[in-house]
Amino acid sequence: MTTDPTGCAVTRLRLHRFRNYGEATVRFGPSLNVIAGPNAQGKTNLLEAVATLALTRSPRAATAADLVQWGSERCQIEASVQRGPIEHELGSRFERHDGSERVVRSTTVDGKPRQARSVLGLCPVVLFWPDDLQLVKAGPEGRRRLLDTLLSQLDPRAANHLLRYRRVLEQRNALLHQIRAEGRGRDGLAAFTAELVHHGARVTVARARLVESLSPAAAEALRDLSGGRERLELRFASSAGAGVEGDDAAERTILAALQRRAAEEEARGVTVVGPHRDDIEVLLDGRPARHTASQGQQRSIVLACKLAEMRHVAAVSGVTPVVLLDDVLSELDQQRRAELMTALASGAHQVLVTTTEPLPDTGVFSAVHHFSVRGGSVSETAE
Ligand SMILES: Nc1ncnc2c1ncn2[C@@H]1O[C@H](COP(=O)(O)OP(=O)(O)O)[C@@H](O)[C@H]1O
Ligand SMILES: [Mg+2]
Repeated sequence: MTTDPTGCAVTRLRLHRFRNYGEATVRFGPSLNVIAGPNAQGKTNLLEAVATLALTRSPRAATAADLVQWGSERCQIEASVQRGPIEHELGSRFERHDGSERVVRSTTVDGKPRQARSVLGLCPVVLFWPDDLQLVKAGPEGRRRLLDTLLSQLDPRAANHLLRYRRVLEQRNALLHQIRAEGRGRDGLAAFTAELVHHGARVTVARARLVESLSPAAAEALRDLSGGRERLELRFASSAGAGVEGDDAAERTILAALQRRAAEEEARGVTVVGPHRDDIEVLLDGRPARHTASQGQQRSIVLACKLAEMRHVAAVSGVTPVVLLDDVLSELDQQRRAELMTALASGAHQVLVTTTEPLPDTGVFSAVHHFSVRGGSVSETAE
């Protein structure tokens, strides 16, 4: 028996000294929310605040210090999140450390301090930003980010391995750099390698399984978008040749690949194999889409992947994700835009969409709330 996923919505957002917002409170509707305004007023910042709270880190800032309003010591994001009958209050605070660029983050749920990772998944989000339109054509970073954003919200164990992988990768790279520059430090490498392989194997297997389950959902979405003409397949491509076979086997594969390329690592002073080099192969009718798909087909593939993400989150977590669309609708042609809007409305998602122009196709939503953003202040408007 399948039950409908529980609805999830951000009902209230409060910002304090976040980016260009001094103090702002917004009450969002449960369905479509259109956030309009000219350029550089704070529309993206508003979505970034929701994403930062839900993901515990900004999907776009290079460092957390960027989030704090210039000239301020700390910023705060708070939101009321309605999950079915239950309401939670989420809070995130970023504070500069002794006036330096280092920023300390603290997180609360219902007013109580909590570790950041226990917040992940409380308010699942799917992001769709203009950069995502290059997902097929651009380098692998965006494709890895798609996987990791999902994993961090759906799979706490994998999220933890990912975090620890990133940390040990940095340490191992620093040591490799030192070995190359100064010819010393080799003794310390084995311990970092063991830890890298341990966490790396688990990240690899989790990502490989995720791609396996996303692929049919994305294929189905593209079949619908293309009237049954186009066949999409997503394949996980591990830099070490590891896959879904299990943690122990993946450990052996990654370790063997590192050993094979040890000389290259020393020469370059960086780790050359591991999850930070993984990718997703996107195949259209069996051929690499980045080389063969037209611009329009690539956009349809991206749309199909985003729809697959939304359905996957709802299926795995049992909660309808909040969908954040930053300025992408103006980049889509009329047909793709209408298809996206219809899918969002029928999936009963809360949608926050930013735009510089009036939006057509909003009629498919049961309720539309309009907001206007000017110079870091936001207000609800009639239209
Ligand atoms: N830490 C910060 N403190 C104050 N203002 C900031 C900060 N970071 C970005 N801004 C300002 O926010 C404004 C743009 O916000 P953004 O949400 O990207 O605009 P848009 O409405 O075009 O999406 C810019 O004018 C930028 O200078
Ligand atoms: Mg913007």
